Amino acid sequence: MTPPLIQLVDIPQRGDARGGLSVVELGGALPFPVRRVYWIHGTAPGVSRGFHAHKQLRQLCVCVAGSVRLSLFDGRREESVVLDSNSQGLLIGPGLWREMHDFSPGSVLMVFADAEYDEADYIRSKEAFIESTHAG
Ligand code: TYD
Repeated sequence: MTPPLIQLVDIPQRGDARGGLSVVELGGALPFPVRRVYWIHGTAPGVSRGFHAHKQLRQLCVCVAGSVRLSLFDGRREESVVLDSNSQGLLIGPGLWREMHDFSPGSVLMVFADAEYDEADYIRSKEAFIESTHAG
């Protein structure tokens, strides 16, 4: 059986009557130590982002406000998921072409990554990505 491309992890919720509190920590929702966090916010209407793969990088994506649709493609199969919850994160390993679509107004997509930014880790051409998945 082929494993699903979409790997969701549960994010523990520690909220109470005062409001929500979501926890992402190593050994909990996070299978790797975090070296970088960034978030995508204020996305203009109709904008799609991503359109790249990473050679090594591992990421956990959490839509902490609003919603976004994220699609993953491994060179053969494409699967997509709508992220719209603080209690669920999407793990994205290396070798997956990702696209982000349908950002809702005011949405915030937080990304935890296991390495610092490195442009050399990106594959930004879909053709080159597909070729890399057929190599070896
Ligand atoms: P990029 O990863 O291409 O955005 P997306 O895939 O979400 O559309 O990043 C956009 C720009 O920001 C690009 O010039 C690289 C820069 N950037 C950094 O400098 N550091 C970072 O951690 C990230 C994610 C991007």
